[in-house]
Amino acid sequence: MSGFDPKRFIEDKVEWLRREIGGETAVVAVSGGVDSSVTAALGLRAIGERLRPVFLEDGFMRLGEAERVRKALGRVGLKVRVYDVQEEFINALTGIKDAERKRKAFRETFYRVFSRIASELGARIVLQGTIAADIVETKGGVKTQHNVLEQIGINPMERYGFRVLEPLKELYKNQVRLVAEALGLPGEIVHRRPFPGPGLSIRILGEITREKLSIIKRATAVVDEELSDVKCFQAFPVLLEGRATGLAEDGSRKYGYIIALRVVASEDAMTANYVRLEWGRLEKVRDRLISAIPEVSRVLYDITDKPPATIEFE
Ligand code: XMP
Repeated sequence: MSGFDPKRFIEDKVEWLRREIGGETAVVAVSGGVDSSVTAALGLRAIGERLRPVFLEDGFMRLGEAERVRKALGRVGLKVRVYDVQEEFINALTGIKDAERKRKAFRETFYRVFSRIASELGARIVLQGTIAADIVETKGGVKTQHNVLEQIGINPMERYGFRVLEPLKELYKNQVRLVAEALGLPGEIVHRRPFPGPGLSIRILGEITREKLSIIKRATAVVDEELSDVKCFQAFPVLLEGRATGLAEDGSRKYGYIIALRVVASEDAMTANYVRLEWGRLEKVRDRLISAIPEVSRVLYDITDKPPATIEFE
């Protein structure tokens, strides 16, 4: 979309949302990412307080995320209500090994929980921040994105009791960021690195367990802290399947978990290049991961581009 004009886009979509929603109440699930934040901000402009923004603490979000998101969006007038639904999600995903089964189980749980919340709030319309890349990848059979329904033949009204409006579905990430800027969203949201809908569930390779979830949460906090200033599209750890032998601090044998670090540059997530981080940076992350998380015995760096790899591992 060359010559993309974010201001014009905002005017058009606000008007479209107003028309589509009419006098009804709508709900939007925000994650703190730029796509859902822009969607919520457009909805707020269109219908004001009849938009109900919610944050689902699904157990696979980053540590401290609910509070961070509530505060950041509160600054632009979005009153986000947090729902703690982690037990339901963790129970639904624990024990699943296969990547696509995980994604589908996540999607099913997400919409089941979300439709319950929407009906509690008296909303039959859902605003969703699906973007073009989500649809392309799901339709292409690469990955089932958690937020793609109608495009693959699922009727949300029949299955979950609500209608879905997707104001961003023609845009790519870089365009969404232009819209975010034009809407005056806080810089931390405009430039926020993408985080997948199924969250940390797809960054635990193989079977999900509560122990692994606790490890990937701590590892993600370390990487976010250490690499927040790196110019890149995404920087995150992944917990690999299997274990490796190592040495504990006292010299005894340690059979620990293996973490892979992935740092990529990209414009629109359709292709990506690994970032050549300096060795000193890598060593610092490695040291912090190993000392902060005693269950970890090795740290690897991923040097694969997309293609042939994808950005996430699952
Ligand atoms: P892949 O791994 O397909 O990821 O190269 C491309 C971009 O999409 C993000 N991603 C997701 N985002 N729901 C989302 O909202 C998902 O199910 C999902 N899976 C991957 C990924 O982090 C990257 O930015």
